[in-house]
Amino acid sequence: MRLPIILDTDPGIDDAAAIAAALFAPELDLQLLTTVAGNVSVEKTTRNALQLLHFWNVDLPVAQGAATPLLRPLRDAAYVHGESGMEGYTFVEHQRQLLEKPAFQAIRDVLIHAPEPVTLVAIGPLTNIALLITHYPECLFNLRRLVIMGGSAGRGNFTPNAEFNIAIDPEAAAKVFQSGLEIVMCGLDVTNQAVLTPEYLATLPTLNQTGRMLHALFSHYRSGSMSSGLRMHDLCAIAWLARPEIFTLKPCFVAVETQGEWTSGTTMVDIEGKLGQPANAQVALGIDVEGFQRWAAEVIARAP
Ligand code: RIB
Ligand code: CA
Repeated sequence: MRLPIILDTDPGIDDAAAIAAALFAPELDLQLLTTVAGNVSVEKTTRNALQLLHFWNVDLPVAQGAATPLLRPLRDAAYVHGESGMEGYTFVEHQRQLLEKPAFQAIRDVLIHAPEPVTLVAIGPLTNIALLITHYPECLFNLRRLVIMGGSAGRGNFTPNAEFNIAIDPEAAAKVFQSGLEIVMCGLDVTNQAVLTPEYLATLPTLNQTGRMLHALFSHYRSGSMSSGLRMHDLCAIAWLARPEIFTLKPCFVAVETQGEWTSGTTMVDIEGKLGQPANAQVALGIDVEGFQRWAAEVIARAP
């Protein structure tokens, strides 16, 4: 049986690879795509999501989500993904339409009607997820677990201490980690190791249409480089669903800093249990890098 999932995303070049894997991994059944402001504006992340689905000729409902974090102004990552959010490839025009409801309502509607619990995957700021928890708690009975790309038990990548997805909306992330939902956290501790090698990247242009498109995007992606390897942060969240054995998880208490003048967005991960708080997340602390790379090559080769 394929695992029913919903993907909340801010494409974003590494998001594009994650969306490909969510669509073409045989273990997964992607039922809804929702967008959020993060890497670039929500108008751009939504346009990018629709362009990717058109590229793959996939019929999938898409709902646009939050344009800003819960309380803070948006700070984007155009310096990593380009001004468009997916610099490097020109997608063809299309007439695809969005669902006429916001992302958190679309997620609620899928959960309320799903015949079995659905896994929610969030690979951007957690704004839509916080709105879902706040406004529609009655649907969470049918949310199997939340798998996120976000956070770090160590250093950050947006500030010295904070990873981008958490740093952009710390209040949303705090709400999510306090919610009691079952959470799997794929943070920088593993995603910084999850690189596609220069040797593999060089094979993409002749692999298939998807390889050609991803290679064009990857050439403009600034989390690593084509010559040293590219960090596939978001792909790790999908990899955990398809190949959980690649990862080593540890139940930890995680708190999100929202008040610190210099440290907001930090995920405080109590690995040694020093605070005596009950664990509220399964935190990925180890990854079989070669196993990840084999899986990534397999799943990208399954795309058209
Ligand atoms: O820190 C990496 C995360 O920030 C990824 O989700 C990437 O797409 C950006 O959103
Ligand atoms: Ca992302």
